[in-house]
Amino acid sequence: MATDSDVRLHAPPSEEITVGCDTATADLLREKATDVLAGLLDGPPAVELTSSCTHALEAAATVLDIREGDEVIVPAFAFPSVANPFGIRGASLRFADCDPATGNITTQEVRRCATERTRAVVCMHYGGVACDVDSLVPLCRDAGWHLIEDAAHGLFGSRSGTPLGRFGTLGAFSFHRTKNISCGDGGALVVNDEALLDRVAVALDKGTNRAAYARGSVAAYEWSGLGSAWRMPDALVPLLAGQLGQHVGIQAARHRIWDVYASELTDWARATGTRLPTVHEGVEHPAHLFWLLLPVHLRRHDFVSHCAERGIEVARHFGSLPRSTFGALAADPADVCPTAGLFGDQLVRLPLHPALSERDVERVLDAVTGFVPEKR
Ligand SMILES: Cc1ncc(COP(=O)(O)O)c(C=O)c1O
Repeated sequence: MATDSDVRLHAPPSEEITVGCDTATADLLREKATDVLAGLLDGPPAVELTSSCTHALEAAATVLDIREGDEVIVPAFAFPSVANPFGIRGASLRFADCDPATGNITTQEVRRCATERTRAVVCMHYGGVACDVDSLVPLCRDAGWHLIEDAAHGLFGSRSGTPLGRFGTLGAFSFHRTKNISCGDGGALVVNDEALLDRVAVALDKGTNRAAYARGSVAAYEWSGLGSAWRMPDALVPLLAGQLGQHVGIQAARHRIWDVYASELTDWARATGTRLPTVHEGVEHPAHLFWLLLPVHLRRHDFVSHCAERGIEVARHFGSLPRSTFGALAADPADVCPTAGLFGDQLVRLPLHPALSERDVERVLDAVTGFVPEKR
């Protein structure tokens, strides 16, 4: 009798082997992939493919000339890439706590962190569920701060019909292997402010005005500003183009699984006091993550072991940044951020990828709902 194999958190390798292409074809594919992304994002002034979301955020910090003396407000519950690019530029970091319904930064917390030195706010859309941009965008605009969107999870997500990545001065996407659309490592920088187009091109072209040269506007290119090698390498472009070509099927499969988890786990969640992701009206999410926020009386370690014993891989996600070893050194003592701490300690992610069969999903549900907590 065939036995069930383990259900992994992320997609396993496929049997198909993808071969590379020449650099001229890579140029063509780069243009195609960029056009597909621009279409999905409702035609921003520019979309540039980068080597990662982290590098897109580094480019953003450089282009906006974030420097020592500036303060940047970042989400306390997030990946370190929301903070590092601004810390590298010498800015001080303030950490804003998250909303227990979504894991997203709250506008109230951004207000608490604001000082006269604030230059920028970084928001992340956790699991691609939009943060409260309705209040954050006007707050940043009125205060003269740049809003930078970490939309690493957010491709195909939107709020009130506007795609994520289109609300800030700049937006950053990830195509890391764990994302809905992936090329191993990769990202994109979305430019929403036309005034920044030339500066972004210089930053991504290693500090040269090579783009102006390619357009024929200058006779030779030269060092024109600060920049680095943040563009996506040619070798990754065919992988990204291939994935983007399959996005309809990928998204349909992910949504089917997300919807089953949401409907089948509601009663269990209520009975155990577990929180499931909240998706507010007007928000379209990309089915990137399905998370459970276990109540404090349930030990996450016991839950993870229980699932592992049944061949189901579930995993924690980010820790609270101000509570991390390095974050604790950088954080203002006022940035306690208890909800980010709770998410760091009690959140687990369920397997979610197109390779999951109906049987796999059933097994995940059986494992989750079969968890009988021991009293602490
Ligand atoms: C919210 C968030 N931002 C940024 C990143 C960094 O993305 P990348 O690996 O493309 O640099 C990640 C990575 O998973 C992430 O989850």
